[in-house]
Amino acid sequence: MISRETIDKVFETVRVEEVIGDYINLKKAGANFKGLSPFADEKTPSFMVSPVKQIWKDFSSGKGGNAITFLMEHEHYSYPEAIRFLAKKYNIEIEETQQSDEQKEQANERESMYLVSEFAKNYFHEILLNSEKGKAIGLSYFYERGFTDETIKKFELGYSLDQWTAFTDTAIDKKYTLEYLEKTGLTIVKHADQDIKKETKFDRFKGRIMFPIHSMSGRVLGFGGRTLLTDKKVAKYVNSPESEIYHKSKVLYGLYQAKQEIAKENNCYLVEGYTDVISLVQAGVKNVVASSGTALTSDQIRLINRLTPNITVLFDGDAAGIRASIRGVDLILEQGLNVKVVAFPEGDDPDSFSKNKSHDELLNYLTENAKDFIQFKTSLLLEETKNDPIKKAELIRSIVYSISKIPNNIQREIYIQECAMLMGISEEVLFNELSQNRKREQRDSSKNKRTLHSSFAGVKKETKVVEKVDQLFTLEKKLIEILLLYGNQEVDFEDYTSVVDEEGNKTMLKDNYTSLISNEIYVHLQDDEIEFTNPIFLKIYNEIIHYLNQDQSINIESFTNHQNIEIATAVSNILMDEDKHILSNWERKNIVVKGKDKHLSKLVTDVIYNLRRHLIEQKIASLLKDLSPSDSSIEVEENARQSNLEMVVNYTALKKLLFEKLNRVL
Ligand code: CTP
Ligand code: MN
Repeated sequence: MISRETIDKVFETVRVEEVIGDYINLKKAGANFKGLSPFADEKTPSFMVSPVKQIWKDFSSGKGGNAITFLMEHEHYSYPEAIRFLAKKYNIEIEETQQSDEQKEQANERESMYLVSEFAKNYFHEILLNSEKGKAIGLSYFYERGFTDETIKKFELGYSLDQWTAFTDTAIDKKYTLEYLEKTGLTIVKHADQDIKKETKFDRFKGRIMFPIHSMSGRVLGFGGRTLLTDKKVAKYVNSPESEIYHKSKVLYGLYQAKQEIAKENNCYLVEGYTDVISLVQAGVKNVVASSGTALTSDQIRLINRLTPNITVLFDGDAAGIRASIRGVDLILEQGLNVKVVAFPEGDDPDSFSKNKSHDELLNYLTENAKDFIQFKTSLLLEETKNDPIKKAELIRSIVYSISKIPNNIQREIYIQECAMLMGISEEVLFNELSQNRKREQRDSSKNKRTLHSSFAGVKKETKVVEKVDQLFTLEKKLIEILLLYGNQEVDFEDYTSVVDEEGNKTMLKDNYTSLISNEIYVHLQDDEIEFTNPIFLKIYNEIIHYLNQDQSINIESFTNHQNIEIATAVSNILMDEDKHILSNWERKNIVVKGKDKHLSKLVTDVIYNLRRHLIEQKIASLLKDLSPSDSSIEVEENARQSNLEMVVNYTALKKLLFEKLNRVL
């Protein structure tokens, strides 16, 4: 683990405008910088960086945060990867925290495995480009397949000499140990036993062309090696074994090279083989990855889902292959992604098809032939089950099974209607089958229920929120905003208490006092036992109150640089929203922003009272719901109903009082 001190040092040193400036052309705009969003195609800049606050915000996608989150969004680094990257950029020495011996050993082991894999990749690439044999055998093969020098460099392709220990010997010469050569599978070691007296070792990839497999952030994890022989008895591909660093089910070939394009195009093409990826990229379709011949796993789908919710699966043009692959697609549906499929003409795969095609021709084919998966599956199977009622029943079950995987209700319904039409049967039959499927699934999944956290960071733009929830969210957000920006300020507040005199006249008594804004908010929420419903706001609030209770002032930087990325992003978003109006008026200079400070105490009161009113309205609504006549009107319930009714009356009175107070203050 990277030490807290190192992380703090990185945050102290890093300048967000310098980090982002490496990727985006930034121009000065008042106190800020502006530029074109890297997350959208746009002509007018909506991306803003604040050197003062050390944060950024992309108004076209809603994303925002600090330097670290920028690297996580743009380069798809993990948190520690981003810290390491920045430490390197700013020449900061990385201190690791104390680890147990076992942890150290494991980290060292993985690190050594990464190093030897990196070395191997460079070695095979060198051999391909610069050795006699490499050029004559490997390079000429790639050229024959139409791969250009640029492509070969981009995918760091290589060649392993057709000698038993050429690679292993070189690696050991360079002081890489046999232990890690064996653990990464680069070298196969036959250990000595009774029959074989001596330990023997040889290169796993002897005589093969090499495809290095990268992690999302570009580290080499393993290799695929293709034979150049046409001998059927020789395995076409030999791959690195599973290891401490290479978990096949969590890796997609080509993702490292494709990740930015996938996010930008908001779609990911999925193919089967290494050569399919490479040929498509060379033909200009760069948002493509391969599952490397194995069935797609949910971990792999999650990797894609970090970049886009849309997958287009490209099927080779043979019927058997298609039928085998469509099963894997249900898994994609299950994760809530949108799936389209493209089939190639009989006998073609993406690699062969893209040969001798211009970029436009290829793109046209892909867009014109992209079919919705459910429709595709239906018409494909329909073709096969013509005039066979038993098979048709199976088909219905299979289609409905796919549909039942889709998490969205409305989408499911639309599919049912479409399929009923395609298959010429009634919707009821399909709905029936569907509801049985869903019931079964709910039974299964209730065992391992997951809770979904929705962060408001703008990632899930399409999530429709009910108006009520929205209002609560806005009020909670406003409170956090006030706390962050003005929490440390002391201002004058007014409060009113209503008193009734002997004649029964009600008057409002005014009370003036001075208080810290954070304290005022704290006291009010405490009084009413109001808790933030948004989990991120709640966390931020609790930390603010922690400061308050220790008589410390609120330090905004501790939030924008927070270890918890959700908190850092949320706070950056709130702070940058302040600047939004500046963005829209960028070209006009000298705009005076209306000072909020004068009206601060009113603002605080206003938000708190509105929050209260909102909660009271919610309460009343739920009480009224309980009051409505139910099926089981037993006597006992009458009492409960009576007390509910009283509560409604009380809450309504309270609401009225709140209104009065609010009107006085404002
Ligand atoms: N594969 C494998 N082992 C094999 C055959 C295939 O691991 N013995 C995996 C490889 O990842 C390969 C993918 O399955 O890329 C698809 O197989 P195939 O279409 O046979 O290979 P291509 O990569 O398309 O190779 P080529 O274009 O040279 O036929
Ligand atoms: Mn192939």
